[in-house]
Amino acid sequence: MKNLLMILVFMAMASCGNSLTDKEKQEYAAKGNEISQATFKALSEKLTEQMKLGGPAQAIPFCNVEAMPLTKQLSDQYNVTIKRTSDKLRNQENKPSKREQEIINNYHKLISEKKDITPIIEVDNNNNKHYYAPIILKANCLACHGKVDEFVSVKTDSIIKSLYPNDKAVGYNEGDLRGIWSIEFKK
Ligand code: HEC
Repeated sequence: MKNLLMILVFMAMASCGNSLTDKEKQEYAAKGNEISQATFKALSEKLTEQMKLGGPAQAIPFCNVEAMPLTKQLSDQYNVTIKRTSDKLRNQENKPSKREQEIINNYHKLISEKKDITPIIEVDNNNNKHYYAPIILKANCLACHGKVDEFVSVKTDSIIKSLYPNDKAVGYNEGDLRGIWSIEFKK
């Protein structure tokens, strides 16, 4: 019995080995903020440019082709894996992992309880570090993610549906949780 207890204590200690100090957490949070903001800036600059040139009809096909490669390029540049994911997907390639889905659910829960939602830093069982942060819908996202026939024109919606037949990412209001950033740091 005593031996069994000792084994359990050691197992508990071993699993705690994967935790981060407060200083490390702050460092990863700062890096995660920097990378997500840089990615947001890069995506939205291109998007705004295309919107000016030809509205959603031009910007949506552009996103369809360019959003993933641009995210991949920034991932390589920062030596991380950058992902944007959601519980209501447009592009199935952005599908959440089990952990990402849990984080999204938890953010929804906190929002419903009127609590603050802040970035999360975690270490997984393989000792990889992760940064998660909420993506909140802004007014300038409504043209492609808002309510159909109100903010998203019927024409825009048909372009979206032609490229993403299973699109779930319309019907949002300003201030809604659109999804999360998920950044995995490489060792
Ligand atoms: C011109 C239309 C357009 C606008 C404006 C737009 N998006 Fe999107 N959004 C898209 C398209 C198209 C995709 C799918 C991109 C892809 O294929 O990777 C997408 C994908 C996403 C995703 C990835 C998850 C998923 O469902 O695939 C997030 C998160 C997202 N948008 C958030 C936003 C936010 C936040 C804003 C405003 C700051 C915004 N979008 C503005 C068209 C748009």
